[in-house]
Formats: sequence, C-alpha cells, structure tokens
Amino acid sequence: MKLTPFIDPLPIPQYLTPLERHKCFSYYEIGMKEFFHEFHSELTPTKIWGYEGQFPGPLVNVNSGECAHIKWKNELPDKHFLPIDRTLHGSSEHMPDVRTVVHLHGAEVEPESDGHPEAWFTNNYHTVGPVFDSTVYKYNNNQRAATLWYHDHAVGITRLNVYAGLVGMYIIRDEEERKLKLPSGAYEIPLIIADRGFNEDGSLFYSDTTTVRPGPVQPGLTFPHPSVTPGEAFENITVNGKVWPYLEVEPRKYRFRILNASNERFYKMNLSNGQKIIQIGSDGGLLETPVYMDALTIAPAERMDVIIDFSKLAPDDTVVLENTAATPFDFPPPIGTLPDPETDGQIMQFRVVELTGPDTSKVPAILSNIPKLRECDAAQTRDITLDADIDEYGRLKFLFNNKGFMERIDFKPKLNDTEIWRIINTAGATHPIHIHLIQFQILDRIPFDAQGFTANGLLSFTGPPVQPDVNERGWKDVVQSPPGFVTRVIMRFAPFTGRYMYHCHILEHEDHDMMRSFEVVERKCGCKNNCICKEHKPKRKCECKKNCRCHGKCTCKKTCTCRKKKSNHPSKEERRHKKCPTCPPCSETYRCECE
Ligand code: C2O
Ligand code: CU
Ligand code: CU
Repeated sequence: MKLTPFIDPLPIPQYLTPLERHKCFSYYEIGMKEFFHEFHSELTPTKIWGYEGQFPGPLVNVNSGECAHIKWKNELPDKHFLPIDRTLHGSSEHMPDVRTVVHLHGAEVEPESDGHPEAWFTNNYHTVGPVFDSTVYKYNNNQRAATLWYHDHAVGITRLNVYAGLVGMYIIRDEEERKLKLPSGAYEIPLIIADRGFNEDGSLFYSDTTTVRPGPVQPGLTFPHPSVTPGEAFENITVNGKVWPYLEVEPRKYRFRILNASNERFYKMNLSNGQKIIQIGSDGGLLETPVYMDALTIAPAERMDVIIDFSKLAPDDTVVLENTAATPFDFPPPIGTLPDPETDGQIMQFRVVELTGPDTSKVPAILSNIPKLRECDAAQTRDITLDADIDEYGRLKFLFNNKGFMERIDFKPKLNDTEIWRIINTAGATHPIHIHLIQFQILDRIPFDAQGFTANGLLSFTGPPVQPDVNERGWKDVVQSPPGFVTRVIMRFAPFTGRYMYHCHILEHEDHDMMRSFEVVERKCGCKNNCICKEHKPKRKCECKKNCRCHGKCTCKKTCTCRKKKSNHPSKEERRHKKCPTCPPCSETYRCECE
C-alpha cells in the first residue's frame, strides 16, 4: 500500500507534567497502554502500544540535578500482537507474552533503575522477572544537558515491544545550554524517526519468519515459527508517529532533536536543497563547536541535535529531509537495498511560511567544553569481537566474543576506572554498539585484517587509525562499528557499581544474541584487610574484619533489608558510627553508604 507523502502535519509530542512535586524530586506515573493510532490519514487506525497511550510517548523534561521518580506501569493485555519467537534467550514457553521493563537510554542510573532485561513485569506487576527490584525508578539526572530516550528492554522481545510503540524522549536541560540562546520554545522540536510496515487492513506488519537460513536445522529440532530475523526494515518512515509528515517552518533557525528509534534502519539524512545541517549535539549533549554537515548518518538509538536555518528561504518554498542509506547498512545492492526516492528515500518535508517575528536565536561558535579522556589514564583495555554465527536452527546469529547474553559476566570494570574497549568487527555489517551507565568518547577506528583475525586470532592492523568524524567528537553512548575496523572507545566507569548491559542496538541482534552484561565493582585495595578504598593503598590500616571501604574507620557498605519505615532506618549519624543494622527482611531496601 502506497501512502501519499507530506499530507499530514508533524505531530509534536507533549511534555508530561509530574503528578507530585516534592522538595527533592518530582513524581511521575507512566502507563503502557494498547490503543489505535493514526499513522497516516489514508490508513485506518492501527493497534499499537505506547506510553500514556501515545506514540511516541510523552516528553519528559527535567533540569540537570533534578530528581525524577517514575512509576512505570504495564497496563497492556496479556497477549502480544506481534510474533514471539520462543527459542530466544529469556523467551521460553514459561515466560509471559507481555513482559515489559523500561530503560532510560543515555542515563547514569543505579542498576536497580536501569531497566535490566530480566527486571521485567507484567500487567499490574502480576508476574515479575528474576531481577525485578522496584516499581518506581529513580533518575537523579546528575549529568549534563542531553537528549535521552526511554524504551522497552524486556529480555527476548525488546524488538517487538519497541516496534509496537514503546518509545519516548527524555530531555535534560542545564544552565550552560540555556545561556547559549539556541532556538527554543516553538522552535525546538523533537524528531523521533522510526520505520514501520502495514498490512492491507492497516495493522502493523512484522515478519514472523526468516529466509536467511545459512545452516541446517540440527537433528531432533524443528525450525521455529514464529522466528526472529537478522533485522527488520520497513518502507514507511514515520516521524513523531506520522508517515512522511510535513512541518510548516518560518524563515528562521530551528533546533531539532533527532532520534533514530528504528529497529534496524540507519538513515543518511540530507536536505533536498543542498543546504547544510548544523549539528550541535550528539548522544551525550552539546559538541564543542557546531559542525556543518552535508549529510548525517544516524544509526539506531543515536541522537543528533541539529539546527536548520531556513532564513534564506521564502514562503512557499519546500525542502525535503531525504535518506540515502542502504538497508541493511551499509550493503550496496544486491545484498542491501538502496532507498526508493518515492518511499523510504524521504523522511519529512519542511514548508516555509511567513515569519512571525525576529529570530534572536544564535548558533554560537563555541558550544561547550569536552575534557578529553586520555589513553594513558586507562587502567585496562578490553576486546569485544563481533561475531556472526549460526544457531541450532541454521539461522544467522550475532555474538560478542562468541558468547551469548545468558553466559557468565567476564567484564568487571572497577568503579572510577578509565578503560578502553576495542570493538573488533569481523561480522560483515556495521553494528551500532551501546553501553549502559556511561558516556564514552570515540578514540578512532583502525582497519585490520579480519580474515586473518578470524583464522588465527591475531590482530594485525592494515592501515593508520581513522579519526572519528567531526560530529562524533563529543560524548556518545552508541558507536557505529563498521566491518573490518577496530573501533576504540574510552570511558570512565562511574558513578555506580552493579550490573549493566552493552549490546548492539539493532534490536533483532540485541534479542539474538548480541547483548552481554558487565559489572562495575568496588575497588579493592591491596591490603590484607581487603578493604575497598578510593585509592589503591589505604592511608591507614583498616582495623575491621569486614569488607569495608575505609581509611581506617569502619565503613561497611551493606544493604539493609528491614521492614522498618524510612524514619526508623538508622540516621546518617548512626550509620557513620558503624551501626550498620541487620534487620529483618523488608520491602524497602536502602543502602547504607557510610564514608
Ligand atoms: Cu537503548 Cu540497552 O538500550
Ligand atoms: Cu542504554
Ligand atoms: Cu548488530
């Protein structure tokens, strides 16, 4: 079914208001609902899922340092309307169909609020996953201004839940950014891009089987139906929930926060009139200086904060945001397909109207300062190979270091350590690799002999390192890792300890089986008392026999699990005086963090 482009106006997601404002946090509730959504005026409404019954979900808008507590509620039916593959990790017959868990992508959060794939819950928390911890997630937003996004992360069905519509944008603002006088208010607009397919009756299309079957089905097994595919792309490009919308713009500057919320599709975006797009921010916030780009290649889950200056255009002029990226990315035909200029080659249209007032916004020459993480500060270098494998059903399956999601954790960075991760791509396709908890910097991409590496495990570089593109030289949490290159990223693991994920953000890869955990651990110093101190060597000798983080004082870090009310929990003073309580088990956990 061919839909007419540019006949529906671009919807603009609305800000969500908190239910309660407390002195030190705002409280929100966000329910996931099933509803009918109009993707295009020529299409009958489509059954989808969305946060607060919207697709994309409402905008969460906070100031840096302002805590937001969000109760995520699953109000969905018990049956999924998309095809579930029961052979994937965490997806067996015993698992409820409709499990959800929310990850705030790009946020520095405690592991309990990070949306661990196995912390899922069903409608009204009726059934919960093995690591489910709480119904209210706590985001302290102690990070610089940035465009984040929230989306589902349930084990084994993330691709389906996100495709069903469980995505939304989350904006952190700060003073540094406000001072810049960037376009704001009505001139600052989110663009959440996601491709979708529709059946004749308007219902959402998603493949229930795959033709990519390079190997045999192992004896004793039958090929599953439904089955996951190695990636799903669709011909209709939606922006903020509409297929090929248009936006009326005045001849002035606009700021667009672009998010690629697609499952598999990359976009290489350009403006049809040849005008440059000015990129001012990446995943983790503002760049140091604006960069003027002819085209922007955005992978799934990446964010690009841009300014488009329409001031040279006259009323009635139109400009199309076009896409030229091959799918799968970046395979030229015959393996991949180039976009059709009539369909997936277009994203949206801008229509110029009369100016309503002077444009006082700016594109400052200096936006921010990004302290460089130094290679010499790295305590460790870890290697991640991206491997293509064949599973027991003869299907293509992608892995990290030839291990799946369910295998033992082998990456344990120490709290506050800087590390370099080398992403070694032998797997043929570009994979967008995302790491939770932190923002990293891209060091470089070094070409290497992938065949030799696969054959004998020896890493030999075949050329000089390629510097990251100018628009990649800021904070990032997703990196495009092209085949035949070792992509090096550097980051500091802070401010929390615990388990987090790293994975490919092509959602069909993440579910099968390109996701692993890492665990940030306390630093243990070398003394006999096994104390956990901030420095490698404690200044004074630790006297206690416990695993403590001390400088001679006892400061055990235990998790109190008592049934007592908050007010009955030991005071800061008591805690400081080493009365870490051991109370009977409770629902309210709190962590004693005596220093
Ligand atoms: Cu946006 Cu772990 O994901
Ligand atoms: Cu994330
Ligand atoms: Cu991938």
